[in-house]
Amino acid sequence: MDNFKNLRGTVDLLPDQLIKWQNVEKLILEQLFRASVKEIRTPILEMTELFMRGIGEGTDVVSKEMYTFLDRGERSCTLRPEGTASVARALIQNGISTKPSQKLWYMGPMFRYERPQAGRQRQFHQLGVEFIGYESVRSDIEIITLAWDILDKLGIKELNLEINTLGDDIDRSNFQKAFLKWLEVNKNSLDLDSQKRIDKNPLRILDTKNVQTKQILEDAPKLFDFLSKKSLERYINIKEKLKLLKIPFIENSSLVRGLDYYTHTAFEITSGLLGSQATVCGGGRYDNLISQMGGTETPAIGFAIGLERLILLSGKDLEKSRDTDIYIVNKGFNAETLAMDLSRKLRNFDLKTELDVSGASFSKQFKKANKIKSKSIIVIGDDEASKREFVIRLFNNEISEDQQETISIEDNIKLEKWLKSNLLLDLKL
Ligand code: HAM
Repeated sequence: MDNFKNLRGTVDLLPDQLIKWQNVEKLILEQLFRASVKEIRTPILEMTELFMRGIGEGTDVVSKEMYTFLDRGERSCTLRPEGTASVARALIQNGISTKPSQKLWYMGPMFRYERPQAGRQRQFHQLGVEFIGYESVRSDIEIITLAWDILDKLGIKELNLEINTLGDDIDRSNFQKAFLKWLEVNKNSLDLDSQKRIDKNPLRILDTKNVQTKQILEDAPKLFDFLSKKSLERYINIKEKLKLLKIPFIENSSLVRGLDYYTHTAFEITSGLLGSQATVCGGGRYDNLISQMGGTETPAIGFAIGLERLILLSGKDLEKSRDTDIYIVNKGFNAETLAMDLSRKLRNFDLKTELDVSGASFSKQFKKANKIKSKSIIVIGDDEASKREFVIRLFNNEISEDQQETISIEDNIKLEKWLKSNLLLDLKL
């Protein structure tokens, strides 16, 4: 029988790779904590209808990319392709969508049936941030700077922020009328993909990658020209504030995003260091989503960062894990019991401790401690065990007497003193 393989577009993350993931996630969580953003966790599996209504049936995500199936109760279920619709549902369902000013984050797997390539998977991970109940221009700036600062904190280079405005519903519907008229006349000059989008999602024609269509679109009506005075002022204000904060940005009038819920601000952050899948972060304002899904009208804005792309971009320094503080070398029946006791005690300190359970010779255990670069070692043989004591020393190759201590297993004070002066830890007993 052939061995099992994972499904195309899914990836096993192995222990050595996960060190980087954990370091990146830790930095992100610290940054979110400092910005007073709270976590929300919603199910990975939702009713299909949620995404059809929330994201829009005409989008590629809903029409081509969802993992949808009937469960045993004949209900249509979908593995979430993104997190915003689920967050909106959870807030409405739990009666807290109108609670003022909520800053929320989530992290976890998302699923889209796309053609896998570097930086694009079928199961991928996102960090999402949603500011619910926020209307002011300053909340747009805060969300953009939060995304920017997370990427910056991780040392990611060659970042480009692209922004656009999609106006409000009326602006867009006025534009759409004029655009559809133009499309009627110019339909045959467009590429096939764009032609197919005319009925389903004409706005997305604007972000076509087809060079010829792009050229033709230069003469098409511009959404920008259909913005109301209020929408335009809002956009100008955002640009001014970004300039004041010295966040560099590029205006991209064809940035429309792949999900239908956006209003006003839309933005993406790309990195020149990624290949064709250059967008590491995408987001925008979605003032109508919560009301469209049955909640009270609530303005909101958010973004999501693709974690696989973030990991590709993060530096090698994040691949390192904290070295082991103490390696416990032990051999002999009584020594082994004592060593187990001691390792449990040491883990109550903030120490990374590894107990050797191989039963191998002392020299093999020393070699292992050396290999993993343990900062110090504890040695217990039956001799020490019979006296209920152990030897602790820093693990460099020359043994210096003053760094080595014989300590009784009951003598917490002496142990703590040694740990404090040699491992420089702020210990709490
Ligand atoms: P999105 O642009 O569809 O937005 O996805 C956000 C990010 O997820 C992308 O920029 C990319 O880094 C990553 N991503 C998307 N698809 C894949 C894939 N197949 N493989 C690897 N990475 C991928 C959203 O999902 C919105 N919910 C963002 C948002 C939150 N807008 C408002 N609030």
